[in-house]
Formats: sequence, C-alpha cells, structure tokens
Amino acid sequence: MHPFELLDYGAGRRLDRIGPWLVDRPAPYARGAPVQTELWPPAHAVYTGTHMSRGNWQIKTSDLPVSLTAQLATSFPLFAELQFSASGQLGIFGEHQKSWELVHKRCDPPLQILNLFGYTGLATAAALLAGHSVCHVDAGRSVVQWARRNAALNQCDQTNVRWIVDDALEFCKREVHRQQRYDGFIVDPPAFGRFKKHTWQIKRDLPRLLAWLGELARPKLRFLVLSHHSLELKQTTVQHWLQDAFGAALTRQFQYAELQEESKYRPPLATGKGWFLCGQ
Ligand SMILES: C[S@@+](CC[C@H](N)C(=O)[O-])C[C@H]1O[C@@H](n2cnc3c(N)ncnc32)[C@H](O)[C@@H]1O
Repeated sequence: MHPFELLDYGAGRRLDRIGPWLVDRPAPYARGAPVQTELWPPAHAVYTGTHMSRGNWQIKTSDLPVSLTAQLATSFPLFAELQFSASGQLGIFGEHQKSWELVHKRCDPPLQILNLFGYTGLATAAALLAGHSVCHVDAGRSVVQWARRNAALNQCDQTNVRWIVDDALEFCKREVHRQQRYDGFIVDPPAFGRFKKHTWQIKRDLPRLLAWLGELARPKLRFLVLSHHSLELKQTTVQHWLQDAFGAALTRQFQYAELQEESKYRPPLATGKGWFLCGQ
C-alpha cells in the first residue's frame, strides 16, 4: 500500500507522490507557479503534453509497477488501484475526497444510492463500506471492471451492489419506467461523453437527467452529491435545474461548494463545483 498525496501544482501541471514515486501530469486548473521546484525534475513518471489524452507516459525508472495500490488520505481507510492510463489519468480524482467522506460517515445505513458516471468506483466503495446499497453506472466497461476491483480491494460486500455498463440517461429513463426508488444520488458528469450511439453533453442533458432523478427520489431524499467541472455552467443555472427536479424547499438545503483537492504543502487545488445534501 502506497500513500497517495498531491505534493505541488502550477503552470497547468500537478505533482503527485505515490509511495516512493513522483508523478508529473497535466492539470488544467493548476494556475500560478509551482512552489516546490526542486521536487519536479526527478519525477519517475511524466505525462507529456499540456492536455490529458493528447500525450504519452514517459516512465523513467524500471521499478515503477504498471499498477499500484494506493492508500488515500481519507478519514477512513480507502484504497485505490492506480494505473498509468493512456489518457494520462491514474484512476482517482482527489477533489472527491469530501464526497467519499460524506457518503461514508454522514448518513445512517442502509440507504439505496445511485452512483452515475461512477468511474473507478471510489464513491461506490465508500458507500458499500458504510453499509449502503449502490447501483453503480458508467458507460465504460473497463472502468466498471476497475470499480469492481476497487470494491474487492476495499473488501466491500458486493452482494449490495449492481454494476451497470450503460448510458446514464438511458439507464435512468428505464429506472423511472421500472418505478425504482433511491434514497441518495452521486452524480459526477463529464462535460462530454459517449456510449454507443448516445452522446452526453452536460448543458443539454443535465437538466433532463436531474428531472429523472427527481422522479427516482424517495419522498425524503437523504443524500445528494452533484459535481461537475464545466466552466460553461453557471451556479444559478444548475440551482434552477435542481429546484425544478427536487423542489425549491429541498434545494434550499443543498450546500454549494467549490471542489478542492487538499494538499499538505499547498492551499487546496480548486477543480470544479459541487452541490451537497446530507440529512438524516
Ligand atoms: C471521469 S468521470 C467524471 C470526471 C469529471 N467530472 C470530469 O469531467 O473529468 C467521467 C465518467 O463518465 C463516464 N461517462 C461518460 N459518458 C457517459 C454516459 N453517457 N453515461 C454514463 N457514463 C458516462 C466515463 O466513462 C467516465 O468514467
């Protein structure tokens, strides 16, 4: 198990430490200049280029495994399989640490939670560890496999999880027809996505998705984490969509926050927006 931490960032890049290894990769939100300049040049893995998906990994040491188990800096033990993906990602987005902690600590189990765009399943693992049931949906078959491995790594009870490879909108539409109900939602949509013939565009599709979530919610919604990284979406616009979906009274209880990734050595790195509801 290797501790994972964000060491430094700036000039559009970030420097992570995974156990003894340093990893340097693009980070569009990392403005300003790096401060620990002496640490950067010896990075063991560097993703070239200025954008994710448009570069390659340069691995500068022969002892760096292709896959690593990392221990995250959460307030409860949470482990993640990290891989040097062709896209430049490692399999975690550290700005979701607060969501993992909320889902793990703040609501009495058992709740039925729908995790959409679930990626490598760390929110799903956090919810399962707390005793909740999760329906985990992502369009990527390989990331759903990865999420299953993360659940196994965290010794989660996988009898409480449905793993679904599907388009988030199509899946929710079918769940509405099946009259399925959930106590809580975790929703972390990308700006753009694709599943077979379906494309996802956050500005066009998020209001429809939230409307369906409003129908899928049990009368007393207990948990919501909605986050996104789109610079195009205004806070007030999303607020209105939430009101339409869940009602003004409930939406007033949602807390709005910047998504931030903590670092022991720097002020937090701001990476997106989030709305949180957590009630008993
Ligand atoms: C990395 S996560 C979200 C990260 C973050 N919000 C961002 O913008 O980078 C995006 C996930 O959404 C999934 N995804 C993309 N389009 C999708 C769709 N139409 N339905 C379900 N999942 C989708 C991807 O496979 C991926 O795992």
